[in-house]
Order: sequence, then C-alpha cells, then structure tokens
Amino acid sequence: IPVDPFDYVVFGATGDLSQRKLIPALYYRFYDGQFDTNSRIIGVSRTEMSDEEFQKFARDAVTEFVDADHIEQQMLDDFIGCFSYIANDVTDREGWAELSDSLRNDPEVVRAFYLAVAPFLFAPICDYLSSQNYWTPDARVVLEKPLGRDLQSSIEINDTVAEVFREDQVYRIDHYLGKETVQNLLALRFANALFEPIWNSAHIDHIQITAAESVGAGGRSYYEKSGALRDMVQNHLLQLLCLVAMEPPASDEANALRDEKLKVLRALKRIEGDDVHKNTVRGQYRGVSSEDTKVPGYLEELGEGATSNTETFVAIKAEVENWRWNGVPFYMRTGKRMARRASEIVIQFREIPHSIFSRTQGAPTPNQLVIRLQPDEGVKLFLMIKDPGPGGMRLRQVPLNLSFADTFTQRTPEAYERLLMDVVRGNQTLFMRRDELEAAWAWIDPIREAWDTDATPLHGYTAGTWGPTSSVALIERDGRTWHEELDDPKAL
Ligand code: BG6
Repeated sequence: IPVDPFDYVVFGATGDLSQRKLIPALYYRFYDGQFDTNSRIIGVSRTEMSDEEFQKFARDAVTEFVDADHIEQQMLDDFIGCFSYIANDVTDREGWAELSDSLRNDPEVVRAFYLAVAPFLFAPICDYLSSQNYWTPDARVVLEKPLGRDLQSSIEINDTVAEVFREDQVYRIDHYLGKETVQNLLALRFANALFEPIWNSAHIDHIQITAAESVGAGGRSYYEKSGALRDMVQNHLLQLLCLVAMEPPASDEANALRDEKLKVLRALKRIEGDDVHKNTVRGQYRGVSSEDTKVPGYLEELGEGATSNTETFVAIKAEVENWRWNGVPFYMRTGKRMARRASEIVIQFREIPHSIFSRTQGAPTPNQLVIRLQPDEGVKLFLMIKDPGPGGMRLRQVPLNLSFADTFTQRTPEAYERLLMDVVRGNQTLFMRRDELEAAWAWIDPIREAWDTDATPLHGYTAGTWGPTSSVALIERDGRTWHEELDDPKAL
C-alpha cells in the first residue's frame, strides 16, 4: 500500500549507514511502488556538496547496494529526482534557514527527521528544529543507535529529545525488529494455536539465541568504545529475547506489544556480584596466521602496539523471573569473527515423560524448534519419526524444514525498508519505547560495571571459531550444548 507523500530529512546523509542501508532501502520501496516522486529526501551533512553531487552519491549507493535485477534506469532517475542536499554544520545556526525552503507546509505531507548522527548532536538538532518552527505536532524523529552507553546517558539523550518531541513522535531504531524473520516470530507464536500452550517452563527446557558474525570489527573507533555487550546485547539480543518470552499482547498495536516486552525486561534477573563471573563470558578475537589463512586479530586491526579491553564476544546465561519461565535459562551469545555468519533462536523442548521404546530402538531426542534469522531464513522443527524401511521400529530425528528461499519467490526485504516506511505510516510497533530502552540498560549496567573491574576475565579466542572455550563451559556446566547444527553447514 503506498504511503502518504513525505519530506524525509536525513541528518548524517553522507555517512555509511545512509549509503549502505537507508538509500538502498528507500530505493527498493520506490521500486515496489510504495512512494512516488511526490516525496522528498533531503540530505543534511557537514560535507560541502551540491544537490547534483548528493544525487550522484545516492545513485552510486543504489548501484552498489541494490540487486542489479531491481535496477531500472528510468525508475532510478525518477528516484534520484527526489533527492536534494543541504550542507550544514548542525551546530551552526546560520545554515538552518535553507531547510525551510525544502519542507512543505502541507498537512498531507508527512515530515520526518532521521538523526543518523552521534547522539551529542541530538540536542543541537532538536533545539534548532523547534526554534526554527520545523517541528510540527505530527512531525516524527527517528533515532539511530548508540542511544547511550549506560542507563544515565540514555536518560540524558531521551530527556533532550523529549524537550521537543512527544514519545509518540519518537522512533528509536533497532534494525533487528525490521528483519522479516524477527517479525515472523510474532506470526509463529500468535497466529498458530500449536505453540502457545507449550510455550512455557513445563515444556521448554531452555532457549538459545545466537547472533554470530564472520566479519571483524575492522578497527572502528565506535566499536572500540562500545564492545559487543553495548553493540549487540543491550539492543538486538534483548529484543529477540523479549519477543520469545513475552506474554501474548491483546493486539498488534504498538503499545500493547511494547508493554509486554517491557514486562520481560523488568522480569530479567539482575546479574550482579559473583553471578557476573558465573553467568557471563567475554572474549576478544586473536588473529590467525598460517600459510593459507591470514586473519588479523582485534588488536592488530586497531593498530600497532594497541591494547584494549573491548569485548568482541559475549555469552550470557539469563533468566526471566516470572511464572511462565521459572527455571528456563536463556543462553545468548554474539561475536565478531566467528566461524560463520548465523543468527538463530533455538527453542529446546523437554524430554518426553516416558518412552515406550526400548534402548535398541533409539532414545527419543527432545523436540527442537529452530528459527533461523539469517542467512537462509527459515524455520525448522525437529521431530522423531520411525526410520523408514524394513528394519523394524527404529527412531530417528528429522527436521520439518520451512526454507523461505525454497517456499517463496519474492525477495526478503531488508530491515530498513519496513522501518523507514513505518515511520511515514506512523506505526511505532517495531520501534523501542523509552521505558524499554531504559529497562534494557538497567539490566546491562551491573554486568558492564563488574567487567570494568575485571570481575570476568577477557578470554582470547581464535578468529573463525565459536568463541572462547569458557562459552562452551557456560552451557555444558548445565548439561546442555550449543546448537551443534551450526558447526555443520551442510546440515543447515
Ligand atoms: C549493528 C552493529 O547494530 O548490527 C554492528 O552495530 C553489527 O556491529 C550489525 O555488525 C549486525 O547487523 P546484521 O543485520 O548484519 O545482523
């Protein structure tokens, strides 16, 4: 369904996010007919650039990051026609007058300000937006991470924005929520009668959430200051945990869903004191240098002689202290330079209460539901069946395999496509509310603080592996193992 015409003002428009994600995502939606040349995309950044130069930047971004079979020349020309540019240092009041010529004062036209800039610029930007009357009661502001380093700084950021924008105007991005398979979790849980009755501690043994990347941190200074706990766990992994653990909301209305996620965050058992050492693992990758492989370690990427305590791997055993999840651990892990790029959620069901089969026929393996977020999006349900053939009753585990690529012909949209259009539609369902963000930081802070006093050692792990051995120990100590299928690409 096409959205209303909009004026999207993107601060930080010449940055990496804009080039790799925002512009390609907007192009896909334009290509799909969701908006037309009536809409304007206004880039703002400090770099001196003409409209034409910015249009070239946008054209190059599409050519590089959009699938070639979706690029049609006329379509691309029309899309590029929506772009204009304002070179402006946002801390300099002078440059601001120009923006008013680009914005339309028409209630039919949605106005959105996308802040793809460092949070210290949020204050001057919000201040100017209001002082120049760019703010309107229906205007939206989109906030990119990092939204703080801890609870206190996130409160400050939120306070700054709240001085100008009401909460229902604020769209905090967690791009994982825009991923097709993450939304599918909602469909799986709440559009099927099958799972909800057994979605609890009586039937589920434990849950695993993995977000593994094969790429490294690349010496980025942002990453060095952040580390995996802030970069991936505080936002993406906790949001996934919330979607798995939350109670069914009464509707898919934004606040109904966000209320339920918030309850989960507030029910997370705080990990502090001795528990930090027991329930968390942090690691940093080391390089590999052999005849056929040469991968730099995290420190080498930072530069010669660098030292760093920044973690590039985290594993955590979390618990949701409520009626539904009593005693069910949620094991989470994420890291850079791991064996493969693979993100998934594993729901491990309990053993059957009694087996009618003899040992020689095989022990029934507990059922497992694997939700593969990326790559090779899909859902697999592992079941026990009789091994076909004349050999009598022999049990065997097989997956019911729903592969998105094999089942659907249409392209899986990128997360930002959905999120950018939801801003225009005024739908906040897939964005984090302020109290959620703050509850997530409140849970992260004690872990971070304990790590800062070295309560948990920083273990090295070899690039291209599944992280430090202590991550294996974290789960095996409880008599469980990380999902092994990940080790065997052919099985996936
Ligand atoms: C971002 C992190 O939020 O998510 C990056 O800052 C990380 O460090 C990225 O690489 C992972 O996103 P995706 O969509 O590739 O899983």
